[in-house]
Amino acid sequence: MSGTVGQVIHCRAAVAWEAGKPLVIEQVEVAPPQAMEVRMKILYTSLCHTDVYFWEAKGQNPLFPRIYGHEAGGIVESVGEGVTDLKPGDHVLPIFTGECKECAHCKSEESNMCDLLRINTDRGVMLSDGKSRFSIKGQPIYHFLGTSTFSEYTVVHVGCIAKINPLAPLDKVCVLSCGISTGLGAMVNVAKPPKGSTVAVFGLGAVGLAAAEGARIAGASRIIGVDLNPNRFQGAKKFGVTEFVNPKDHNKPVQEVIAEMTNGGVDRSVECTGNVEAMISAFECVHDGWGVAVLVGVPHKDAVFKTHPINLLNERTLKGTFFGNYKPRSDIPSVVEKYMSKELEVEKFITHQVPFSEINKAFDYMLKGESLRCIIHMEE
Ligand code: APR
Ligand code: ZN
Repeated sequence: MSGTVGQVIHCRAAVAWEAGKPLVIEQVEVAPPQAMEVRMKILYTSLCHTDVYFWEAKGQNPLFPRIYGHEAGGIVESVGEGVTDLKPGDHVLPIFTGECKECAHCKSEESNMCDLLRINTDRGVMLSDGKSRFSIKGQPIYHFLGTSTFSEYTVVHVGCIAKINPLAPLDKVCVLSCGISTGLGAMVNVAKPPKGSTVAVFGLGAVGLAAAEGARIAGASRIIGVDLNPNRFQGAKKFGVTEFVNPKDHNKPVQEVIAEMTNGGVDRSVECTGNVEAMISAFECVHDGWGVAVLVGVPHKDAVFKTHPINLLNERTLKGTFFGNYKPRSDIPSVVEKYMSKELEVEKFITHQVPFSEINKAFDYMLKGESLRCIIHMEE
């Protein structure tokens, strides 16, 4: 790849020209990385709900044309000035949020919400100069989440790149760059269920199933899956879910149903729906005295969380988490190692595969609710 260092690379990218319209595979120009940036070759990428949400222009500030994609795995092609911990050939996962290692958040052991590189869905350009590294015949194309992985090459800030074990299969571990780590981390880093405990997971999409996988790894004895969609129940067994509750099957609030099933409430619950009613139920279904609830899903912008304060006074704890509390550069390599040591299974999250030229099929699968994760192969 050394022949391309310092040069503009011409390659294929899937460009979203308009909200909700199929992506178009185009020849794009990818500029060399500037200071503190890395240009990487994407080998595998997968589709996540956040891509679809912004592609449908449900975000506040839709930017088009744009290159979506943020869950991926690939190889460093070249690095810009000031990048000392990565070199061409390194195997990496781009991450939609970052870790500058210098701000108060990065220096705190308790936070992963980097001041400099925290997720920004409205920014479509690189931080250093406010410009895009992508263009088509000179017309700039916007970035997405600082990653834009639906392209054979992309430019990412070094703080948004996790260097991983080169033996890890990128077609599998690419899913650890967003959704799976989010659910897993919410359970193992934040909810922290003691061995033998009873856990509820609200929402059995990829994020919730990753939370269930975390509970299984932590040794929970009962994992209660809650979802409005009964089609989610069958597959969830593979992720350690032992019992199911569909709120629609009951004529009382689901938190009461769960309290009855568990002699007063679960020890831990994790909400992975984005629905505020589910968030309230997830909190109110934990046992008084010790129960902990963790919110993960991204709610509607006007949502309000309402509960009686006595629920907190009775020694229930409510927490929220972002990206499973993982620091991208410091922690994600060790999540990959959990996969390498067979503690964590990721294959079961991968339900579909498509070549890059058929990337729009991945959108169809997700919109129909058929897929957990669809891997898009850049090399066909
Ligand atoms: N009660 C129970 N389950 C619900 C409810 C509810 N009130 N509302 C939605 N669900 C279920 C859906 O039926 C679906 O199966 O939550 C599940 C969410 O799964 P996906 O849509 O596949 O989403 P996923 O990729 O897992 O992400 C979950 O995390 O990233 C955030 O905000 C994002 O809301 C998303 C959440
Ligand atoms: Zn920082």
